[in-house]
Amino acid sequence: MKYFLIQSLNKVGLKSFSNKINNYLSNFFFSQIFLKLSLFFFRKSYTKYWSKVNSNESLTNLKEQYNDLKQNGFSKIDNYFSKKELSQISKDVKKLKGFTNGKYKGTFYYKNFPKDGICSLGIDPSLENCFNIFTKNTKFLSLAKALYGNDMRLTSSSVLCKYGKDKIDSSNVPHWDDWRVRLKIFLLLEDVTMKNAPMIYFKASHKKIPWRFEKDFSSVFLSYEASAGGSWWPIENLNLEKVYFTGKKGTCYIFDATGVHSGTQLISGKRLMLMNMYTNHLDYTFRSY
Ligand SMILES: [Fe+2]
Repeated sequence: MKYFLIQSLNKVGLKSFSNKINNYLSNFFFSQIFLKLSLFFFRKSYTKYWSKVNSNESLTNLKEQYNDLKQNGFSKIDNYFSKKELSQISKDVKKLKGFTNGKYKGTFYYKNFPKDGICSLGIDPSLENCFNIFTKNTKFLSLAKALYGNDMRLTSSSVLCKYGKDKIDSSNVPHWDDWRVRLKIFLLLEDVTMKNAPMIYFKASHKKIPWRFEKDFSSVFLSYEASAGGSWWPIENLNLEKVYFTGKKGTCYIFDATGVHSGTQLISGKRLMLMNMYTNHLDYTFRSY
C-alpha cells in the first residue's frame, strides 16, 4: 500500500511530496497510531474516574473555604486553631530534638534529604496533640468529602521542615502532584515570609490548564523520572496569578494539589509546618511528601 502510494506520486511528478510521505510513514506512522489508541483508552478511564468525583457542599461547615477552593484552588484561614491548641501542637514539635535542622534521631517515621535541605516526620497517635488536634480534624475531612466525594480519606499526616538555605529540592519546579484528586492542608508553625520558602500556588490552575490531559497521560505511561518535573514551561504562557503562601504562625492553607504549585528556595530561617493529605485512592501511610 505504502509502496504503491509512493510510486504513484513519483509517476505524476510529485517526487518531493512522495519523499515527505515516505519519511512520515517510515518514522512516525505506527507510533502515532498507537499513541492515539492509547490516548483514546486512557481518556475512557480518565473520564470514568472524574465522573465519580462529585461535590456536595452540604457536607461541610467550611463554606467559605469550599467556595474558595472551587473557584481558586486554594483557601487561607488566618487563625483556624485557638492559641491554646496551637501552643499544644508547637510543644509536641519542640520535643522532636534535632528535627528542625535535619538531625532527628528518635523513633518516629522520619525522612531526611540533606542535599535538598528538607525533612519530614510521620505523625502518629503518640505525638498526641498534633494527632488529636490536627491529623484527626473532622472538619478538614468533611471539607475534603464535600469537595470530592465520600471516598475521600486521610492519606498522610506529617511534620515538614525546610531547613537548607539556598538548596533546591524537587518541588521547586511548577508541578501538580497527581492526575487524581489530592487535597493538602498546611498549618504554619512559624511565620512564613518571602524569605523562608513560601510555596507558590498558580491561582485557578486546578481547572485552567489546556494541556492537562496530555500531561496526565504522560505521568501515567512514562516513568516517574521522565514525567515528574521539567517541561512545565508553558505555565508561564497562561499568565496565571502566582500566590505566595506566606502568613503568621497558625495560618492554615488548604489547596487542591492537582493545581500547579511550586516550592521556593529558603533564603533564611526555616519553614516548619504540619501537613495533612487527603485522596480518594490511597490508604494512610507515612509519606515524605
Ligand atoms: Fe507538590
